[in-house]
Amino acid sequence: MKTFLTIEDLTKELNLVKASEKTSGLVPTMGALHQGHLSLVKQSRSECDVTIVSIFVNPTQFNNPDDLKKYPKTLDQDLELLESNGCDLVFVPSVKEMYPTKPELNISFGAIENALEGEHRPGHFEGVGMIISRLFTIIEPTKAYFGQKDIQQFYIIKKLIDEMGIHVDLRRAPIVRESNGLAMSSRNERLSAQERAQAAVIYQSLEQAKQKIVSGVKFPSVQQETERIFEGQSGMDLEYFEMVETKEFSSVTDFKNKEIALCIAVNVGEVRLIDNILIFS
Ligand code: PAF
Repeated sequence: MKTFLTIEDLTKELNLVKASEKTSGLVPTMGALHQGHLSLVKQSRSECDVTIVSIFVNPTQFNNPDDLKKYPKTLDQDLELLESNGCDLVFVPSVKEMYPTKPELNISFGAIENALEGEHRPGHFEGVGMIISRLFTIIEPTKAYFGQKDIQQFYIIKKLIDEMGIHVDLRRAPIVRESNGLAMSSRNERLSAQERAQAAVIYQSLEQAKQKIVSGVKFPSVQQETERIFEGQSGMDLEYFEMVETKEFSSVTDFKNKEIALCIAVNVGEVRLIDNILIFS
């Protein structure tokens, strides 16, 4: 496995990959790697000749400076994990390398940008769009891998690719969960053992809600029930629980020909967690 800190060095290596007509898979990450990331690496390895992982805690997608400061950083462990999981190239740029000047370009994604995560984290998707378009321009991967846990992010990136005409095959991998059902996330590292155990209720509530919806219960009453579940959990604060179609992430009442997701965001102590479950897809 080779590690690169600069665009120049990485580009030299990527030119060799392209010259030999090999396919490449990019897994963009912010580090603090877990089994969810490793499942993306595995998928890339099975579909591409060369797997590249980027590790960059992207400041432009954090609307809360404290959240950025506290984002877990475990670089040595990440590199060991990537090596033992067969990653070929790792790109670990500095902030200066990725943003030599303060970015002024505005990327706007329309309605999808203002729903759910976009509404609660203003500017977040603009930052994600900026860093991903930059990574696509530098690396020009054949395929790029993202997890379903950040389902709205996945569709933001789909929109970026479609509207910019970027030649990359966007791939989505299922959510990987801990044994109690909690969706794997780098932020889980910040939970105490007790919070981690308690956070299992997030997925349980999604499963329960899905069963109700599928058996014909209307969403408003399912939503009320979910709100009640979290009112009974001390130290947990439900930020949103919505049923949306995945084009613009607007609320839905009918299920015709659409992918529908139940999306949830919960603050567990000081840690904000998100999760989702697909109902009809
Ligand atoms: O999902 C993440 O970890 C980040 O949003 C991403 C896609 C690596 C962009 O910084």
